[in-house]
Parts: sequence; structure tokens; C-alpha cells
Amino acid sequence: MKLLFSLLIMMTIAFNCCKSFSLANNKIDYSKFENKVNQQQCFTSSGSYPSGYSSSYVSLSFNGNYPTSNGGVQQLSFLESGYIDIDFVGGQLFVNFLLDEGNTKTKGNLWAFSGNSTQYVSVNVNETDYCFQQPLIFSVPSFNGLKYVTDFELGTVQCDMFEQNNVEGNFTNQVLLVDKSDCSLLSGTTQNINSPSGYTMTNFYYYTPAADQEFFQLPSICLNPPQSTKSKLNSLLAKLPKIIQNLPF
Ligand SMILES: *[C@@H]1O[C@H](CO)[C@@H](O)[C@H](O)[C@H]1NC(C)=O
Ligand SMILES: *[C@@H]1O[C@H](CO)[C@@H](O)[C@H](O)[C@H]1NC(C)=O
Ligand SMILES: *[C@@H]1O[C@H](CO)[C@@H](O)[C@H](O)[C@H]1NC(C)=O
Repeated sequence: MKLLFSLLIMMTIAFNCCKSFSLANNKIDYSKFENKVNQQQCFTSSGSYPSGYSSSYVSLSFNGNYPTSNGGVQQLSFLESGYIDIDFVGGQLFVNFLLDEGNTKTKGNLWAFSGNSTQYVSVNVNETDYCFQQPLIFSVPSFNGLKYVTDFELGTVQCDMFEQNNVEGNFTNQVLLVDKSDCSLLSGTTQNINSPSGYTMTNFYYYTPAADQEFFQLPSICLNPPQSTKSKLNSLLAKLPKIIQNLPF
């Protein structure tokens, strides 16, 4: 049942186009997608979890669920590209991101530190950089909670498919594709369980299975930042990178 459900998430996206053409559909042998060895290769024990990773990414959301400040979810559509650097052991996170919401584009950086529960957000507005210090408003993730579902292929790359249920409250299901040969993260997909339907897909590029400590150094503009701001820049601070709500662990 679980297997079917997760396959469904990927296939809804991959094959919806084709299934509407019943003629073409008859020629596609969908059964071959389920005839895999089903032998989990990656993350079989917590000892094989990465201590961190760094990667470029592109995240595309159509009506995907994102948390609101009152504990609910809202549906957002956007494209975000960037670079993410996570140190699970030291509880440090850095994201450089460009969020395109159609009418607005936001470029910025986020540094988050579990150790002192502090985050720094820098944004570039009208060619000027600003940096703000805030209490950490989300936790730097730890790498766990992935459940192996099945084998899968991305292109011709043999993958382990993992799932994480009940992210964003109980509103979203999520699956992650991991390269069997080296356990690198390849692609993550989410699907809304609530209405309206919505999906996000995140691809990882140039994945390295270790954090790059260099990016956790704050730039000088963040060294003596205002603790809070009442200026019109305030609204920009709400624009945290979406990837932090989209990580499959
Ligand atoms: C929080 O920790 C980071 C990393 O050690 C450090 O750069 C930053 O200055 C600290 N901020 C505060 C307010 O202690
Ligand atoms: C940026 O420039 C625009 C156009 O000049 C102006 O309306 C806006 O208030 C500026 N934003 C900030 C934060 O200075
Ligand atoms: C999600 O659903 C499970 C099982 O129905 C329940 O135990 C859990 O409390 C729910 N979590 C949230 C955040 O609503």
C-alpha cells in the first residue's frame, strides 16, 4: 500500500501527461516499474547517515503546502534556486537563495545556528545589503526519519526511494530519491494530502556529502546587525528560503 502510494506521487507527476492518451497508454508497460530487487542500499543504519552535505538545488512548487505562523499551511507556487550547506553534527545551516514568486524576486542568505538559537538573514534590496539577527525560528534539521519504500530509477540511475509522512503537520507527503551507488541526494517530491492538490519537486546538483565549514562564517555586515527592525524591510524578513521547509528529514 505504502509502495503503491509513493510510486503514485512520482508517477502522478511523471506520467499524468501520457495517461490521458489512452492509445499511447496501452503501449507502456507500467508493470516494469514495480519489478525491482527492492534491496535498500543507503542509510541502513544511523552510522551511515551523512554528517552534513552541501549542494546546489532548484525547487519548483505548484500549490505546495508551506507553514503559516499560526500552525496551518498555505499553498505557494514559486521557483527557488540556490546553494544549501548543512552541518547536522554542529547544528549549522547556510542557504544562499533566489526566490522567484512571479511578481517578486528575493535574493538572500540565511545562516542558522542551533548552538545559540540564532539566525541571520541578509537580503539585497536596491543594490544594498542588509543583515538582521533573529532568534532561530525553525530547527536545523537532523538526518533521520527516512523510511525505505522501494527501488526506483531517475533516468537510468538506480535509486533507493525513501518516504517521510506527516511533514507540515499532516498535510504533506514527501519522497526522496537517493543514488544507490553513493547515497547522494538526487531529488525530493512532495504532495499535498489536503485540498487543493499541490506538489513540489527539488533537484540537487553538485551534491557533496559533507558540510563546507567556510560558509558558516558570518560576513562583516552581519557582525553588528540590528536585533530587530521596524523599517519597511521587515516584510523581507518573512522571505526565508523555502528549501528549509522542504527538506526530507
Ligand atoms: C551564534 O553562533 C555563531 C556560530 O558560532 C556565531 O557566528 C554568532 O556570532 C553567534 N551569535 C550570537 C548572538 O551568539
Ligand atoms: C527600493 O527602490 C524602490 C524604487 O526606487 C523604492 O520604492 C523602495 O522603497 C526601495 N526599497 C527600499 C527597501 O529601500
Ligand atoms: C498526525 O497524525 C497522527 C496519526 O493520525 C497523529 O498521531 C499526530 O498527532 C498528527 N500530527 C499533527 C501535527 O497533527
